[in-house]
Amino acid sequence: MTLSLTTPRPLIAGNWKMFGLETSLDEARAVAAAVASKPPAARVALCPPATLLHRMSEAMAGEGVLVGGQDCHQSPSGAHTGDVSATMLADAGARLVILGHSERRAAHGESDALVSAKVEAALAAGLEPIVCCGETLAQRDAGQAQAVVTGMARASLPASLAGQDFAVAYEPVWAIGTGRTPTVADIAAIHAALRAVLIERFGQHGATVPILYGGSVKPDNAREILATPEVGGALVGGASLKAADFLAIIDAA
Ligand code: PGA
Repeated sequence: MTLSLTTPRPLIAGNWKMFGLETSLDEARAVAAAVASKPPAARVALCPPATLLHRMSEAMAGEGVLVGGQDCHQSPSGAHTGDVSATMLADAGARLVILGHSERRAAHGESDALVSAKVEAALAAGLEPIVCCGETLAQRDAGQAQAVVTGMARASLPASLAGQDFAVAYEPVWAIGTGRTPTVADIAAIHAALRAVLIERFGQHGATVPILYGGSVKPDNAREILATPEVGGALVGGASLKAADFLAIIDAA
């Protein structure tokens, strides 16, 4: 990936989802050690379950690996049993937060409006949001992929993102955890449409916001995906759990 002064560094973010116990921090330490010994072209982040955030942040301190949350509540505090606020994520050492992941949208009924409110909360807490959008297989088969994804992006990105650090992730639901990926041409088409939305919403700043691809990114397809026009990084699920696989993807950026 060639970088210019106007192109921010790509971002490779690992989403551990609901995987990981204290012993898994060894994988994170192995990623940090490799990143420290050979600084990559990309910025690198790991988003563990909330239970590991604080310990991972301490282990990664000064190591060149950012730590992020996987979701946050839209309020800074309150009577919300079981929820975690953006302020709490930041307090535990997070610098970023994934918002609007399709697993949250599907299993927790998160709407675009709620995702947008969570983005506002993340910004207020000083976190860099990674805002996800993607179509289902039925929507793609019906020829609606581009309309669905751009509609989700428009409604999930609040105006307050203007001038702030954030990323958008295109994550086709049918490619997540399935080993299936869209063609490079399909990824390029959706990313170009998302770029147009970002420019329409945020002007020149929108031209520089990284658009990540997520969905079955693996060591053997990362290079091709990351070389696709308008792909500014990757959001990696399964392959981020093993340091060797994640490092191979980081190397491909
Ligand atoms: P996957 O997950 O890489 O395991 O397909 C991607 C994601 O859900 O972000």
